[in-house]
Amino acid sequence: MSNDAGALDDLLHEERRFPPPEGFAEGAVMSDPGVWAEAAEDREAYWASWAAELDWFQPWSRVLEWTPPHAQWFTGGTLNVSYNCLDRHVEAGRGDRPALIWEGEPGDTRTYSYAELLDEVSRFANALKGLGVERGDRVTIYLPMIPEATIAMLACTRIGAIHSVVFGGFSPDSLSDRNNDAEAKVLITADGGWRRGGVVALKANADIALEDSPTVESVVVVARGGALTEQTPVDMADGRDHWYHDLVAAADAECPPEKMDAEDTLFILYTSGTTGKPKGVVHTTGGYLTQVYATTKAVFDLRDDDVYWCTADVGWITGHSYIVYGPLANCAQVVMYEGAPDAPDRGRFWQLCEKYGVTIFYTAPTAIRAFMRWGESWPQSYDLSKLRVLGTVGEPINPEAWMWYHEVIGGERCPIVDTWWQTETGGAMITPLPALTTTKPGTATRPFPGIDVAILDNDGDPTHSGYLAITSPWPSMLRTIWGDDERYRRTYWSKWDGLYFPGDGAKLDADDYVWILGRVDDVLNVAGHRIGTAEVESALVDHPAVVESAVVGKSHEIKGESIASFVTLKEGIDATDDLMSELRDHVGHKIGAIAKPEVVVFTAELPKTRSGKIMRRLLRDIAEGRTVGDTTTLADPAVVKRLQELHEADEG
Ligand code: WT7
Repeated sequence: MSNDAGALDDLLHEERRFPPPEGFAEGAVMSDPGVWAEAAEDREAYWASWAAELDWFQPWSRVLEWTPPHAQWFTGGTLNVSYNCLDRHVEAGRGDRPALIWEGEPGDTRTYSYAELLDEVSRFANALKGLGVERGDRVTIYLPMIPEATIAMLACTRIGAIHSVVFGGFSPDSLSDRNNDAEAKVLITADGGWRRGGVVALKANADIALEDSPTVESVVVVARGGALTEQTPVDMADGRDHWYHDLVAAADAECPPEKMDAEDTLFILYTSGTTGKPKGVVHTTGGYLTQVYATTKAVFDLRDDDVYWCTADVGWITGHSYIVYGPLANCAQVVMYEGAPDAPDRGRFWQLCEKYGVTIFYTAPTAIRAFMRWGESWPQSYDLSKLRVLGTVGEPINPEAWMWYHEVIGGERCPIVDTWWQTETGGAMITPLPALTTTKPGTATRPFPGIDVAILDNDGDPTHSGYLAITSPWPSMLRTIWGDDERYRRTYWSKWDGLYFPGDGAKLDADDYVWILGRVDDVLNVAGHRIGTAEVESALVDHPAVVESAVVGKSHEIKGESIASFVTLKEGIDATDDLMSELRDHVGHKIGAIAKPEVVVFTAELPKTRSGKIMRRLLRDIAEGRTVGDTTTLADPAVVKRLQELHEADEG
């Protein structure tokens, strides 16, 4: 999305209103419009009532201890996440209910009932123990979208190990950085996973990362991509590398769940920030599970007969909270799909919806825009009549895409929940409740009950257009940045006193609905993925031909934003097309394919202030082909003109 204030003003004039469909409130999880007021009256009691729906070994003694910027929720309480996601449902007689309904890209399928999932998780938890993994140890998970990803996460939580899931699209360098920052003891990976008809190798990447991951003692490898039939041969290092299937077959099926403190770390998930080094966002146990449990149930109106599908990857927070922990804690029937939405054809998602009778579908605006581009005939070839709630997350959804989702996918009968949240918030924060909220295309509407937000200016005063702030602690908030509490304070809590700054700009309309404008820092949102401009810049200058680089976002029809880079080469090096693609590959190699710049402009100089600061605002104007703003503070105003010409030549 563009952060263009003018465009947003147009959005605020959106006249369309979509009240909850007739009859929807009947039997709905949340049907009392008094819930916001009730929660505001006693926020702690409200969250405690959700926490009480989980199973605790030991009840908490205090709901919240708040010493800004550090919150502790449900202190004194003990629980286990895998117990809450599995054992308690089996003990309630629901062991035969499908927990995970998985389909591979080639069309192979596997379904685990709750009892089967418990059995597999327990075995793998014992296997991890056998590799010496203890409470508090870190385990990196680098897997495709296969059941073992869910199983590995739950197995870690069962024994109190801290997982750090690394998206399978990340490069070896990104993987070793994360292994080293977390000091991971074990890495869980696969030979490869299926994507658009081919196998994306993972173990081969992991092997490169392992050359520079000294803390990793053992590697577990899932055979997914055909390693066993020599389709994707892998090297197994003696003593270090183990096949998942061997470990599980040899493991005991009884593994008592560890009693974890509510504030024990559950997982670390790395996300991009404004420096070149990703941040290890730390989530803890009791508060996190409470909020993802509550929001899965309330935001999607999750009922017993629902079939729930979230299309995210477990490598991102959406996968953690809304494929694994929230749905399983609710005993949901969860669909999981390995591959691409256009493999073998562009009807794949709708074919899966029809086949499994999906009733709740949660995806991203970038995917919706791709579906729009592919045309209505794909979804129209399938029976989507079981769908009843649609969700979106990842970036502001443009009203056109919202309307298409509503009409073509939802058949004009499904409420759309546009959920605003972040890796750091752990769970949904600003979102409609489907039986209660009148939605408008393009806004995430109002905060979830028990969540307090405000739109503030730089000084912390309320305004209608400014920065989004979260003004009270919430259960699933990040607790710190792994190994860097100072960065935690600086990044999120230094803008205003005691208030959380998410990094987004926002506006409030006359109904007090929040309209998110996008990031206000040097963080890009490319196809719903967070990428720091500084990360891409350091990957570019890492190339021997490059002296300096500046990276900005540029609006993109499908991805929302794409990456534009301006690069200064070393003296005597020619700016060729070959070098351009070499640089793009270099970034892909350093970070991952998602970070490859779409545009590379070679330039002899970058627009800088007299003090030497690169003026990204001007580069954004150039990348967008807009009239360039004030250049009077530039050391050399002529630079802009030359860059515009270069950029135009590049576009043409
Ligand atoms: C950033 C967080 C939450 C999981 C996916 C992304 C943007 C997210 C929305 C939405 C407008 C949104 C924000 C936020 N964002 N959802 N519904 N409307 N913007 O997680 O990588 O941590 O990115 O995504 O800019 O700060 P993430």
